[in-house]
Amino acid sequence: MVQAMNSLSKVKDHTEIDKDIPVNFNDLQAVAKEKIPHENFEYIRGGASQEQTMRNNRIAFENYSFIPQLLNDTTAIDTNITLFDKTYTKPFIFSPVGMNKLEHPDGELAVVRAASKLGIPYSLSTVSSYSLEEVADAAPLHTKFFQLYWSADEEISFSMISRAEAAGYRAIILTIDTTISGWRTGDKKINFSPISNGYAKGNYVNDPIFQMHLSSGRYENYIDGIFKNINTPHLTWLHIEKIKNHTKLPVLLKGILHPKDAFKALECGVDGIIVSNHGGRQLDGVIGSLDALPEIVKVINGKIPVLFDSGVYSGVDAFKALALGADLVCIGRPYVYGLAIAGEHGVEQVMTNLYDEFVTTMMLAGVSSLDELKKVELVKRNSHV
Ligand code: FNR
Repeated sequence: MVQAMNSLSKVKDHTEIDKDIPVNFNDLQAVAKEKIPHENFEYIRGGASQEQTMRNNRIAFENYSFIPQLLNDTTAIDTNITLFDKTYTKPFIFSPVGMNKLEHPDGELAVVRAASKLGIPYSLSTVSSYSLEEVADAAPLHTKFFQLYWSADEEISFSMISRAEAAGYRAIILTIDTTISGWRTGDKKINFSPISNGYAKGNYVNDPIFQMHLSSGRYENYIDGIFKNINTPHLTWLHIEKIKNHTKLPVLLKGILHPKDAFKALECGVDGIIVSNHGGRQLDGVIGSLDALPEIVKVINGKIPVLFDSGVYSGVDAFKALALGADLVCIGRPYVYGLAIAGEHGVEQVMTNLYDEFVTTMMLAGVSSLDELKKVELVKRNSHV
């Protein structure tokens, strides 16, 4: 509560906003484009095939409007949220984004430090530039989740989960929409593969099982080893059971879009789901992630947390996703652009701006808590929701 008020009074003082880090997503993207090599930028910006899913994410947000009910006292704003028995002051979480040395030499270390300062849970990708142990050392006390891409050699997956447990990570996020990479037109056009360029090695070269295979000659080199493990089209619901049996940490599935999959996730005993289409980078032609949310919220019916991901580019977007029933929202590309522009400071500034805009939206919409926010009336095109 105090936190919300503090940050709001800060936002009112415009001299404190860093003018080099735009508050608007399109400007943020434009400035980031100037800061890093074109191929690095295109890898972040781009989506799959014709990028229809990327557009659908934005259209979904634009199609929803809300009708505020006013003359409520919003002097004190409470944005506290509890996830897996820990309370956070903001209903945000960092989406896992791989290979952060593409944006800045400090990569994931800069991001986790910013996350720690802000008290926003951090998710580390399997394909990170720094290892999960290095990232843990950069913010030992902060809440960190480990995002798992299942490995073709499942012993590597189990080894990474065990390492994440030992390093103090508090949940495993299994991404289920990336059993192979999407058809990334932008990267193909310029023939760019960040994995081939060595950006994804952090967690692999430090893994004992991976190292064993490297020295036994199973892999020609570490890049070959990553490519031999990254494609897992055999991944099924049976693997979820294996993961649940292997770890006591909460397991979340990232990439749920169909209510039936949400139901199966419940049946499998997962601890949370992330409604996501991977920011339109994987399967093109998919519905906007926000359009998938309401039905999934109905199926889950409060039994486990529902996180929302894909296309949250402003505080108003976050407000809409929470109003449609998400418990937390995941932020992806905006913080990555902040990292490209100004490293740790850039990430901190982008997330602060998003949060301050979110609090401003709450106050103007006449709601002072996340419970009240969930009751806000939404309109989709011409029909009430
Ligand atoms: C991602 N995303 C992602 N997801 C994941 O589970 N593991 C990963 O390693 C990555 N890597 C990655 C790299 C880049 C450059 C981007 C932009 C995204 C997807 C990410 O977690 C999230 O789903 C999307 O970023 C959501 O879309 P928006 O909101 O950023 O457009």
